[in-house]
Amino acid sequence: MTKQKATNISWHKGEVTKEDRERLLQQKGVVLWFTGLSGSGKSTIAHAVEERLFQRGFLSFVLDGDNIRHGLNKNLGFSPEDREENIRRIGEVAHLFAQSGIITMTAFISPYRADRDRARQLLAEKEFIEILVKVPLDLAEQRDPKGLYKKARQGEIKEFTGISAPYEDPLHPELIIDTGEKDIQESRDMVISFLEEQGIISPNKQ
Ligand code: ADX
Repeated sequence: MTKQKATNISWHKGEVTKEDRERLLQQKGVVLWFTGLSGSGKSTIAHAVEERLFQRGFLSFVLDGDNIRHGLNKNLGFSPEDREENIRRIGEVAHLFAQSGIITMTAFISPYRADRDRARQLLAEKEFIEILVKVPLDLAEQRDPKGLYKKARQGEIKEFTGISAPYEDPLHPELIIDTGEKDIQESRDMVISFLEEQGIISPNKQ
């Protein structure tokens, strides 16, 4: 647990509510939490969903592991403690984004169940949608878009998820996308359909 360091601080609640912003945007502010191995397709699917939502007039935003590690989380590595802090911060940021009414997507390996569950607890039920992007390890390794699996196998990268660091599958994800079986378009459409079924976006706005 991260300790509260500052004292003499108080919460300022604004007059404009999440519901007000959702009415303005005609959508629900939620977090789509993509989790899975490196190379599973998390970022690719999230960006495809973002593009489709944009075309249909919905506002979304992708928080992407590799990108966030260039800025907000540039002081974090890949030890279990740093990954925990990485996910803690992103959970908080995603929560803020969702409060603003935006359909927020996070694309982080987020290998530890406990860390993802903590992020879930920040949001109301139905506002946190965990999406397991499933892929057989050998297929992710075959894809190896950044050449990192090869380096990990050669021992050049330590604590690499799936090779020398663990990945814990979610027990009850809201959605499972198997990218060994589904292409990008099918994967994207699974997410969009889920958003429609849950009343997060309206099917009538095309
Ligand atoms: S997480 O485990 O803390 O959630 P995150 O999603 O932010 O990871 O970053 C993962 C990305 O960092 C991978 O897609 C890969 O490009 C890169 N990376 C570099 N080193 C490692 C490592 N040791 N384990 C996993 N990914 C790594």
